[in-house]
Amino acid sequence: MAVKSPALLVSPIEEEVLRGLSARPRTLPPKLFYDAAGSHLFDQITETPEYYPTRTERAILKKYAGEIVRQAGPNITLVELGAGSASKTQVLIEALLRRQLRADFYPVDVSSSALQGALKTLNGHFPRLRVSPIVADYTHRIPDLNSLPGRKLVLFIGSTIGNFEPEEAMAFLKSVHRSLQSGDALLIGFDLIKDAGVLHAAYNDAQGVTAAFNKNMLVRINRELGGSFDVDSFEHVALWNRRKSRIEMHLESLYQQTVWVQDLGRGFHFEKGERIHTENSYKFNTVSIARLLRRSGFKLETRWIDAQGWFCEALARV
Ligand code: AVJ
Repeated sequence: MAVKSPALLVSPIEEEVLRGLSARPRTLPPKLFYDAAGSHLFDQITETPEYYPTRTERAILKKYAGEIVRQAGPNITLVELGAGSASKTQVLIEALLRRQLRADFYPVDVSSSALQGALKTLNGHFPRLRVSPIVADYTHRIPDLNSLPGRKLVLFIGSTIGNFEPEEAMAFLKSVHRSLQSGDALLIGFDLIKDAGVLHAAYNDAQGVTAAFNKNMLVRINRELGGSFDVDSFEHVALWNRRKSRIEMHLESLYQQTVWVQDLGRGFHFEKGERIHTENSYKFNTVSIARLLRRSGFKLETRWIDAQGWFCEALARV
């Protein structure tokens, strides 16, 4: 019998690229950003002076870690959806291990390489933590959390929820709710609506890291699907759509051109100015946060917000 490697469990990108590039308007799903190069570019984005979300959330977690784990309750088992390298999680783990002698941590991510990194760092730092990584695309199916021991605290931080369409966000949180038991909790991070200039700058950094991150999708199609995108003939566009309360990222064709993609056996024609929509990053306020959690079955218990009102961490109960 063939041994399934984790990569085989992740759906191939062909279908999604074919579907997205054939659609009108053209789209590519944001999870395509995160190959090794893209994950590295994202880490670099979080270090630009303009990109406030990561450092703002980290400061909230640092300041309130004790309160957050106390609020979650005794005997916590931690689960993190989209854990990546789990770097922001460390302050919560420290706070947890001040309250309980041992803890289990189940980081879930599509990237086995990121999880390997998390495993190594956490094992080195926290001898009283048992780390059991789960390689899974949690956007397709939430792993069965009921079988895990103890009272669960599920972390879904980083405002990744902002990448979902409103209906998808609700369906996703409903399925998280279904996978948990009464008394379990969810800690979820939301980026908040703020000054349009601040929002715009965060997705148009002066060094062009976000532009490179956006264009990496084309680099990836070139490499993985035999594409012939001339990356310089597309321009990074990021704009604040106030009506829909979201930042949109697009790649705009600077010329009329046809791009051949070998593995899809076809070409794609672009008019000058035609865009590929690569990402939505929804921004919330306290009203939309409360509504989303309530409608997906959770009871909102506590919110932690930074002094500027830029980012919100919410603890919700099943
Ligand atoms: C990882 C989804 C929270 O939406 O801000 C950063 C991704 N895109 N710069 C975000 C991203 C462009 C990020 N999230």
